[in-house]
Amino acid sequence: VPYKKTIATLLKRQLNPHIYELLTDIGREAEQRNMHVYLIGGMVRDLLLGRANEDIDIVVEGDGILFAEYLQRQYGGHVRSHEAFRTATWKHPCGLKLDLTSARTEYYDFPAALPKVEMSTIKEDLFRRDFTINAMGICLHQSEFGELIDYFHGYQDLLNKQLKVLYNLSFVEDPTRILRALRFESRFGFTMDRQTESLAKESANNLLAVSKPRIANELIRLFLEENPLFAIDRIDDLGILPFLLKNRDSFESMKQKITRLARATATLTENSVPLSRSLWTAYLFCLTPVPATEACWQEVHNFCISKEDHKLLNDLQALIEGASLDKQPLTALSDWHHLFASMQTEPLLTYFSLVAAEQGIDYLLARDHLNNGRKVAGADLIRAGLKPGPDFKQLLLEAEKLQLDKPDLSPETIVKLLADQ
Ligand code: CTP
Repeated sequence: VPYKKTIATLLKRQLNPHIYELLTDIGREAEQRNMHVYLIGGMVRDLLLGRANEDIDIVVEGDGILFAEYLQRQYGGHVRSHEAFRTATWKHPCGLKLDLTSARTEYYDFPAALPKVEMSTIKEDLFRRDFTINAMGICLHQSEFGELIDYFHGYQDLLNKQLKVLYNLSFVEDPTRILRALRFESRFGFTMDRQTESLAKESANNLLAVSKPRIANELIRLFLEENPLFAIDRIDDLGILPFLLKNRDSFESMKQKITRLARATATLTENSVPLSRSLWTAYLFCLTPVPATEACWQEVHNFCISKEDHKLLNDLQALIEGASLDKQPLTALSDWHHLFASMQTEPLLTYFSLVAAEQGIDYLLARDHLNNGRKVAGADLIRAGLKPGPDFKQLLLEAEKLQLDKPDLSPETIVKLLADQ
């Protein structure tokens, strides 16, 4: 285990100087009040892995809310506290947000319930966490600044690239940890050790008791942040699929769809086309059978956590059910624009990748380019003597279609062509 000086140097070298200073301020405050405070969780893990992470989670042995209030009095900012969990969020005047919690033991009334909380020591607090690599702390108290608190050998597991639970009931108490394990496997190239993997398989059925939005919060991170194919392979290995969805496609077909969607998504992101996080619902949709029945759509809707998620699915359903691509040949970009101008990028991207229309992806790239610089606006039409009215919208669409097909046309020529129509 690295010495405290080594960790203190890592903190200084890797963190944004602002954050480093804040942590030393907190340590000084803790020393003065003779309280023990620790940096914990993902930030500690990522610091040791040399990865950036600015989610500052602090555990206070004692009262987290009280400590947050001391800090606020000393340094300003705002404190928002959650009495039931004895946690507080301190917003520093510089805009940084820190979560301060009271060291706690959680117990669960029944598997998959939200935890109840009691005050305790840092060791108990760390013990209730998901994996050993996430159960390390760093002491911030001034005289112990940088001391690594590692009761459960998380540092060794980090070196061995292993994910290990801390106790056998971990996945039963919080089945979403099974999906978290897959996220860390995918992100860090780690693997669960044998015991942890078999506990994950045994407890997979407990996912049935977890609310869909909580599952969704994990699936979003699995599908969007990591390699979605790896995710689906491991979901299958662990036998989780039946506990996630009732209506399922064959595994091979799921994989094909996910591969196509991931490839199309990569093409757009490589070209800096902005995509919303709601795209995760499209990956979920890839797991359902083709053609999707009303029950399939409904099942995917049940996971949605925002209006935008629902909208993506509704738009996608409209596209799939109104299927136009196989009926009419679309040769020019303007043909595509004629049909799809008003539709958002994410459902189109999904639709095109599912019906394997490469040209559709080309259209989305061209349309993004257009969105970044239209040559003709309403004011140009007015200047050319056209009267604003209900058909203006149509004229502007025609201008876009001309620009898409003939990118070299000057704005004046486009306006002239429209005025002559
Ligand atoms: N945690 C846990 N069980 C969960 C969720 C979280 O034990 N189901 C603990 C872990 O110690 C984790 C910390 O809470 O490190 C913070 O959780 P979160 O911010 O969700 O995860 P990170 O580990 O920071 O992951 P990421 O980097 O993906 O945000």
